[in-house]
Amino acid sequence: MRILSGLQPSGRLHIGNYFGMMQAAIHLQEEGDAYYFIADYHSLTSIHDGKLLRSHVRDLAIDFLACGLDPAKCVFFRQSDVPEHCELSWVLSTVTPMGLLERCHSYKDKIANGIKPSHGLFAYPVLMAADILIYDADVVPVGRDQKQHVEVTRDIAIKMNETFGEGLLKLPTPRIREDTAVVPGLDGQKMSKSYHNTIQLFEEPAALKKKIMGIKTDSTPVEAPKAVEGSSILALYKLVASPADYDRMVQDHLNGGVGYGDFKKRLLQATSDFFAPFHEKRAAITADPAYVDRVLAEGAEKARAVARKTLARVREAVGLG
Ligand code: TYM
Repeated sequence: MRILSGLQPSGRLHIGNYFGMMQAAIHLQEEGDAYYFIADYHSLTSIHDGKLLRSHVRDLAIDFLACGLDPAKCVFFRQSDVPEHCELSWVLSTVTPMGLLERCHSYKDKIANGIKPSHGLFAYPVLMAADILIYDADVVPVGRDQKQHVEVTRDIAIKMNETFGEGLLKLPTPRIREDTAVVPGLDGQKMSKSYHNTIQLFEEPAALKKKIMGIKTDSTPVEAPKAVEGSSILALYKLVASPADYDRMVQDHLNGGVGYGDFKKRLLQATSDFFAPFHEKRAAITADPAYVDRVLAEGAEKARAVARKTLARVREAVGLG
C-alpha cells in the first residue's frame, strides 16, 4: 500500500493538523510505503515572502519529526525539491474541466478569507492531484476539508485514463478518521489559521493557558448541568484526555456542580501532558540543523526517483519529449 499526504508550510502547525492528519500519517508509516511532504509550492498561493516561506518549511520539518515522523520508515521531503510535480500538474490541467475547479469549496473559502484570487489559487487542486498521482498513491490520509480535493484528483485521473489509456494513473482513496475529521477551534468552528481560533502544536505554556482559559462559555451557574452538545472544551478534551477522564468530564457536565473554570483547567493540564514529550524531542531536533537538512535531502532523492518514473510514463503516453 502506497500512502501519501502533504501539509502546507503556511505558519505554525495547530492541533487540528495534528489530529486531522499527522497522527494518522505517523501510524500509517508502520503499515505501508509512506510519502509525506511539505507543500511549499502550494503555500506560494498565500505567502509571497521568500525568507518567511523558508523558515516555515524548516519549522514544519522540525515539528513533524518531533511528533514522531520517522525518516527511516517513510520518505519525507519538500515538494519543491521534486519539480516533476509541476510538470505533471500542467499535463493534468489540460484535461481538467473548468467546472470541476469552479466547484471547489476551498477556493471560495480562501477568497472569502481575504486571499487574493490568483490563477495559482484556482489551479491549486490540479497541483494537489499531481502530488498524489505522481506517486501512484493508494491512500491519502487527510482531514475532511481536503476530501473534495482527493475526489477531484480521482476525477482528473479518470479523465487522463480515458484520454490516454486505461491504467495510466492510479485512483487514490481519501482516508478520513471520522472522530477527528474536523477538529474544532477555541470558538467551536473548524480549527483554522484563518479563523484565528487555533491552539498551536508547540504553543508556549503561557499562551496555551491564556487561550484555554479564554474560551468563551455561557453563563450557566456552577451548580446547574451544562450542555454537552457543541461544547468546544469537551470536544478538545476528548482528543487529549484518557477515555475515563473524558467520561468523567461528560458526567460532570450532566450532573452540574462543576464550573467552566474547572473544566478549562483540566483541558489545559491534559493538553500540556499530551504534547510534553513532543516538546522535548523538538528541542533536540532544533539543536541539530544538519540532521533536518540530511533528512530532507535524502527524502528528496527517494521521492524524485519515483516521480521521474511516473512522469516518464505520462510523457510517453501523451506524446511529450
Ligand atoms: P493543510 O496544510 O491546510 O492541512 C494539513 C492537514 O491538516 C488537516 N486539517 C484538519 N483536520 C481536522 N480538523 C481541522 N481543523 C484541520 N485543519 C487542517 C487537513 O485536512 C490536512 O490533511 N492541500 C493540502 C496540502 C496538500 C496535500 C497534497 C494533502 C497539498 N498536496 C496532497 C494531501 C495530498 C492542505 O492545504 O492541507
